[in-house]
Amino acid sequence: MYSSAQQKELFDRSKAYLSHASSVQALPYTEQNDQLRQLIAYHEWRYYILNDPILSDEEYDLLYKQLEALEAAHPELVTPDSPTQRVSSDLPESDFPSVAHLTPMLSLANSYNAEDLLEFDQQVKRMLNMSETEDIVYAVEPKFDGGSIALVYEADQLVRGATRGNGEMGEEMTANARVIRSIPLRAAFSEVGMYRVELRGEVLIRKDKFLKINEERAEEGLSLFANPRNTATGGLRMKDPKEVAVRGLEAFIYTFGYAVDAAGNNQLDTLATHTESLDLLANLGFKVPLASKERKRCGNIQEVVAFCLQWEKGREAYAYEVDGMVVKVDNRRLQERAGSTSHHPRWAIAYKFAAKQATTELLEVVYQIGKIGSVTPVAKVAPVQLAGVMISSISLHNEDFIRDKDLRLGDQVLIERAGDVIPYIVKSLPDLRTGREQPIVFPTHCPSCGTPLERGEGEAAWRCPNYQCPAQVLQRIIFHVSKSAMDIDGMGPQIVERFVELGWVKTLPDIYRLDYDKIAELEGFGPKSAENLRQAIEKAKHNPIHRLLHSLSIHHLGKKVSQLLAAELDHVLELRHWTPETFTHIKDIGPTVAENVTAYFARPENIAMLEELEALGVNLRATEADRPVAAVTEGPLVGKTILFTGTLSRMSRKEAQEKAIAAGAKNISAVSGNLDILVVGEKAGSKLKKAQALGTVKIYTEDEFLALVDGQ
Ligand code: IVH
Repeated sequence: MYSSAQQKELFDRSKAYLSHASSVQALPYTEQNDQLRQLIAYHEWRYYILNDPILSDEEYDLLYKQLEALEAAHPELVTPDSPTQRVSSDLPESDFPSVAHLTPMLSLANSYNAEDLLEFDQQVKRMLNMSETEDIVYAVEPKFDGGSIALVYEADQLVRGATRGNGEMGEEMTANARVIRSIPLRAAFSEVGMYRVELRGEVLIRKDKFLKINEERAEEGLSLFANPRNTATGGLRMKDPKEVAVRGLEAFIYTFGYAVDAAGNNQLDTLATHTESLDLLANLGFKVPLASKERKRCGNIQEVVAFCLQWEKGREAYAYEVDGMVVKVDNRRLQERAGSTSHHPRWAIAYKFAAKQATTELLEVVYQIGKIGSVTPVAKVAPVQLAGVMISSISLHNEDFIRDKDLRLGDQVLIERAGDVIPYIVKSLPDLRTGREQPIVFPTHCPSCGTPLERGEGEAAWRCPNYQCPAQVLQRIIFHVSKSAMDIDGMGPQIVERFVELGWVKTLPDIYRLDYDKIAELEGFGPKSAENLRQAIEKAKHNPIHRLLHSLSIHHLGKKVSQLLAAELDHVLELRHWTPETFTHIKDIGPTVAENVTAYFARPENIAMLEELEALGVNLRATEADRPVAAVTEGPLVGKTILFTGTLSRMSRKEAQEKAIAAGAKNISAVSGNLDILVVGEKAGSKLKKAQALGTVKIYTEDEFLALVDGQ
């Protein structure tokens, strides 16, 4: 993609822009604009395609802001392939018109074991009139489990993105494709004589990103995504590209569908092999399966089988969901000779991994009430092993899920672990019904307090509207003390439940007037653990107010928004005087949160509760930690940049970073010429090597770092 000489030049030029060097300031602004566009595209490639940034996030942002400023001053310079135009407010909201693919997007035939693969190899040889003993070279790569897309480039510009649809016609979703950072807006196809190109690929989300999104959604009381595939395909079809952007989707490209020059002549024949096409695409800046690890050119079918089995074994450790491997005849002339059926190419086959699925009986449905009253149905199933874990409970998400899947009590159900983690019901197996199955009747009243349930328009969940519902109160108390809220160590959900059952805790203020002598006498406690709990609760009283705000379980008031809100306040009770309009000046706080917060502070019982908390010593006044961090101007590390790598043994990564900030340093995220100090824990890897290679980075052990900042 970029030669090392080019990369050096791009890096040096980036530094010149970052330091506002006179050499770049003197350039005509049109040239600065071209250069900044190029530089940002280069750093996006390093970040999103190589996963190996050479600028810190802050430096990247600075370059981006310089381009934005230039474009703001000279709007005529804005081009559609500018990195600032990934989400363009001028683009109409896409309503997904139907478009015809330039060539049909075929499917793949399936194989399930080594024998199937050997049989496929024989078939291909018969078709090509080859002898049984000759070998065919195959290209083997992961079969990504996401949503397929087709991208059209014309004159080097991305002009269209579409979903697979029925293979002939797809849904156009260019605006959404543009916000996926691993899809280049511009790629130099013209340099290889290609004018109009269609690429095929798969849109995915990392498994860890999927879990994180679900964690955040759970915290905000939103319905959860069933698996990474749905998160990716659903993301692709969202109406607002800005929403798509925050999902962090990625696109792997796995083949060319079509390529012609300006005169319309086929250019695919210039590529001798599939391997060559992927290498070319990698060179042009696309994310393709990595040659070193994710794909392999195999000299014969035995090598193919070995590579497939090796991947099947290691699939859990891979960052993305993969449901098999794709085996392709590498040579394109041979591919053409083998041809295709109307359904699939004869020169390729999917090797499907053994499904991590099991069948079990759906015994019962219980209903859990969340902290804001949403009712989640949970299936209790006959315990069954699935990929090494015993499963007995599975979320059914909401009423529509039960209806859409036609689930009944007593049904045999097919289950799998979504994202290799969360158990999920794929479907019921109606053929196995005995006639004794019973319908699942969703409750009309709250199972905890008996209040009629409500369901807002367009909402998936039924809710119990009774704010005093005992189940909700319990969940709110559990959440209040949890790690992400007030962080009271030693007060897990079971202990809260016990205190609630004993009648000791009925409201949040009750937590702060517990009788520790009585706790010390409880079974499982003692003077020591009661004292530890007392200390943890005392400590929580001094929390910054963003934690308290978050701990109140106000719908949509997540961690981040609580911090933004706290930064605007001196005292929590000021919010009594706020109206939804008061929020409008805070960037990133939307009208829904504004309304929810205003409604919460309009209720006298909530105000009384907060006053009670304050009287018990809980802090309601903004602290230093509620203010956006101001730079520390004194300390042993003032002006230094620092990065931690490897496993630290004496503190968490977060504590280490906080210590570094307190000592005046700035944490950065990548090893670059800008890094001053690298602190290495155990099992430090590539970052250490890179820092050593640079030769300019000071390398400290964890102990050396602590001695420096704490003097210990
Ligand atoms: S090649 C003509 N390669 O699998 C070749 N497909 O049934 C057809 N898929 O939905 C596809 N990873 O989106 C190919 N490395 C890969 C793939 C892949 C995932 C999907 C594809 C389609 C399905 C084919």
